[in-house]
Amino acid sequence: MNRHSGPVRGGQSSGPQQDQGPGPRHFRRPLTTAVAAGLGATLLSSCGSQQLITFGDMASGYNREVAFMSIFAIALSVIIFVGVSYALFFTVNKFREDKNTAEPAQFHGNNRLEVILVVVPVIIVMFLALLTVRSMAILNPVAEQSTKIDVLGRQFWWNFSYPETTANAGGNVTNGNELIMPTKQDVALTITSGDVIHGFWAPNIGGQRAAMPANLKTWNVDTDRAGIYQGNCSQLCGGSHANMRYKVIALDQERYDTFLAAAKAYRAPEPATRSPEARGYNLFMKGKPSTGALACAACHRVQGTTAAGAAGPDLSFFGTRRTLGAGMWEAMTPEHWEAPDAKAELHAWIKHSPKVKPGSLMPTYDGSEYLVTGKKVKGGVLTDREIDDVAAYLRSLKLPEEADYWNETPVYGSTDAADNTSAQTAKTSSPTPGGNQ
Ligand code: CUA
Repeated sequence: MNRHSGPVRGGQSSGPQQDQGPGPRHFRRPLTTAVAAGLGATLLSSCGSQQLITFGDMASGYNREVAFMSIFAIALSVIIFVGVSYALFFTVNKFREDKNTAEPAQFHGNNRLEVILVVVPVIIVMFLALLTVRSMAILNPVAEQSTKIDVLGRQFWWNFSYPETTANAGGNVTNGNELIMPTKQDVALTITSGDVIHGFWAPNIGGQRAAMPANLKTWNVDTDRAGIYQGNCSQLCGGSHANMRYKVIALDQERYDTFLAAAKAYRAPEPATRSPEARGYNLFMKGKPSTGALACAACHRVQGTTAAGAAGPDLSFFGTRRTLGAGMWEAMTPEHWEAPDAKAELHAWIKHSPKVKPGSLMPTYDGSEYLVTGKKVKGGVLTDREIDDVAAYLRSLKLPEEADYWNETPVYGSTDAADNTSAQTAKTSSPTPGGNQ
């Protein structure tokens, strides 16, 4: 259990922990005592998380169907348990030795009893099987008109892309680690993996599905209620398995349409000449060959630019997102990424990502060694100012304000000590003009 309010470390760090700047006060302080968050049992598998996985969310039709099935299965189990217990105690009591000194009657081949002992369990199993088949028949078919979202899991992050929405700038609208979906309809997720087996698991909108390489699985999820929900990878997949998180952000139709339209029209803003963002843009696209610092664009896509890398998460809307490192850090204060602590975390992340997230495949930018397919490679070097320039560029990658899907959307499963109700609202930041240095 992780008591400090900083990033959640799910694995062993690859190096000595050094001071990562001022304490991350802007992050929601984890309440390490379990908070039953009003939505049912709360699992602390994500110890120290700023937002918890919650179960039993009846806002999801998927979950309601599973609950319906479970009530029958549990009721039946209770009846069987009581019946068997009664028969056991009745028999033990009735045939106690102190009451019955004579040897009890011995008999074999009670046909009636044997038939009952075979037929009754068969009926029970058939009943449970029919219940399951019924639920599968309801949940499995993918409706024609459902919203389609492609889910790609990789070590250790997620991409969510919208195959039916081609961006005006080319390519499908895609977002890293934050899944935006509409409420009150089936959402068909087509889930796969780019490397090992991962598990897509966001209990508020349904159960879980394995993300398998070279395998596409389509699965319906849904929720009736707008909100921000926690998702985690549920399949042990490497050093940062526990840090492979994401947010599911369910928006009512109108807001969802606004998001999708803005995302479709989005082109990354052009940085003003000589601004930090412009210097950051240049480093992002080209790296710094003189020190061996690799270009971010080789691995990341930014819609509306030439950056089209696919090895890392899509960064098109980075400035709108409020999570970093696949949900390891959350910047949910009004200052958002402009908060000093959030800036420090972003700086540390760019500078030496594998140090703050074990197993991260990002190159280092402080000249230290990192692993490329098991071999140690020396990273290039960017100065602190150059790193801040890259960060400034990333923070500038924002959807228009009306498409800010975090704005006022309730956060479910929050562990904020100040608020133990089931939901609290993600306040929007007032936009800060460029020049963040
Ligand atoms: Cu991906 Cu665990």
